[in-house]
Amino acid sequence: MVAAPLEPLLTASEIQRRVSELAQEISRDYAQAEEIFMIGVLRGAFIFLADLSRQIEISRRIDFIALASYDEGATRADAVRLIMDLRSDIRDQHVLIVEDIVDTGRTLEYLMNSLSARGPASLRSCVLVRKPSRHEVPVSIDYLGFEIPDLWVVGYGLDYADQHRTLPYIGILENV
Ligand code: IMP
Ligand code: MG
Repeated sequence: MVAAPLEPLLTASEIQRRVSELAQEISRDYAQAEEIFMIGVLRGAFIFLADLSRQIEISRRIDFIALASYDEGATRADAVRLIMDLRSDIRDQHVLIVEDIVDTGRTLEYLMNSLSARGPASLRSCVLVRKPSRHEVPVSIDYLGFEIPDLWVVGYGLDYADQHRTLPYIGILENV
């Protein structure tokens, strides 16, 4: 059975255009760096990272980290849990976190804290979409694709219960 298409919030071409702009901006900003170390946050960022990393014009390395959010009821301090760590040491590296979405901001906060403790030469973040009205903690995003309203979105890596990740556009999932 083929599911009905979802209402698009960001079309495939809008996303592609913005990803190219971000890649140009990042390439310019890191022109003096020998190499950039891109960290994709699994699983949602895998498509964004694939597209972004292939358009960056400076030398780069790729690694992944996997995190999960605890459900409601977890205390703030342990709202995020590490599922799979990086393979490589990031000491003295120019690290760029690549994340699909910032909602409450807790995942990004956790990542910034835990990666900065490992002594990178620099640490920045590149986020495809953020929901500013949902932020619960201060978030520092260096490169942002789009701001979106408080809706559940899927596609371009984003899921609901592991569905819809491979849609080429970002659509709104109703009744979540
Ligand atoms: P945080 O609340 O900023 O820590 O984000 C936690 C995680 O919730 C994100 O990395 C996503 O995996 C997930 N998430 C939040 N909002 C959405 C959405 O609209 N669609 C899909 N995943 C989402
Ligand atoms: Mg994520």
